[in-house]
Amino acid sequence: MYLDHLQLTNYRNYAQLAVDFSPGVNVLLGENAQGKTNLLEAIYVLALTKSHRTHNEKDFIKWQADFAKITGRVQKSSGKVPLELVISKKGKKAKINHLEQAKLSQYIGQLNVILFAPEDLSLVKGSPVVRRRFIDMEFGQMSPKYLYNSSQYKQVLRQRNQYLKQLKYKQATDQVFLEVLSDQLATFGSAIIQQRLDFLTKLEGWAQVLHHDISKGREKLTFSYVSQLKGGLTLQQALHADVAHEIEQGTTLVGPHRDDVRFLVNGKNVQTFGSQGQQRTTALAVKLAEIDLMKEQTGEYPVLLLDDVLSELDDMRQTHLLKAIQHKVQTFLTTTSLSGVAQTLIEAPRIFQINQGQLQQTTDKA
Ligand SMILES: Nc1ncnc2c1ncn2[C@@H]1O[C@H](COP(=O)(O)OP(=O)(O)O)[C@@H](O)[C@H]1O
Ligand SMILES: [Mg+2]
Repeated sequence: MYLDHLQLTNYRNYAQLAVDFSPGVNVLLGENAQGKTNLLEAIYVLALTKSHRTHNEKDFIKWQADFAKITGRVQKSSGKVPLELVISKKGKKAKINHLEQAKLSQYIGQLNVILFAPEDLSLVKGSPVVRRRFIDMEFGQMSPKYLYNSSQYKQVLRQRNQYLKQLKYKQATDQVFLEVLSDQLATFGSAIIQQRLDFLTKLEGWAQVLHHDISKGREKLTFSYVSQLKGGLTLQQALHADVAHEIEQGTTLVGPHRDDVRFLVNGKNVQTFGSQGQQRTTALAVKLAEIDLMKEQTGEYPVLLLDDVLSELDDMRQTHLLKAIQHKVQTFLTTTSLSGVAQTLIEAPRIFQINQGQLQQTTDKA
């Protein structure tokens, strides 16, 4: 799939924008603080209704304006799909084909995006929060069921944590209600874990091929899912087993919100034993593998958003990245200058100069 047209109204530093994109590589060129990341974010938000940068959605709205609007036209093998998202102080409204969707979960998945920013290089190095977020964002796009289970899980988790605190401070005494919440949480949580394992096995397969290539056949990448479940307990059993401890802590200590995934290179945890280079190669392979997984799951390639990543990668890794996406994936790439390997490797880029929220197409060698 690809995004062939985008319009913004009052989105961050864009007052008005209407632009046609290439189905190939689009280069967004500009100095710092001109709106390059804002534009990628707008595409990301159009796809997911959420940003990778902020939880505060009022930030999307141009200062002094009342609402922000993002409109896009997605081309898929099945035809074109117009999408619209309006963000106001009252919340968000999403339309597919000009029809308002009652639930955002029905809307997400129409446009699939993969974002790769310098922070993603910390997918391997960073805390478990980074990896869980990665898993939830990517798998949620591929599976409405995953998205549904996650949002239900979060809701019940919030209730259960609140109730544990009430029990702790003796504002509540009814343990039966806690058991009800535990059972509900176990149902959604087990489904999430099952789906994660399934997707991770598939993702691992794709990542291994890429990783083998980038490491010139010297290394083997494997994944391992890390859960808090001990001694072969099911999630349901675990949620009933440790209630006294949970009440004491006032929070839920086991479940997918605490799980993690470990990346192993030649059997060793690359987070603790890997060199910086090995960690980068792993992060790159995992991110690129998502492209293949998404194609496998949805039948379409996603749109790739690369925010300032080229400058973070050496020539060898840039070459692998650019070769993996050429002629396959619509790509948006931000940079302050187009030089080096990128300049010679990217075929027929459409180049846009960005200046204070204004876009100017400078070349189209296509
Ligand atoms: N809600 C907003 N309204 C207006 N301008 C904004 C808003 N949010 C951020 N900006 C401006 O956007 C600019 C940063 O844009 P960004 O896309 O992050 O830059 P870069 O080109 O370096 O990626 C800053 O000048 C910031 O002041
Ligand atoms: Mg930026």
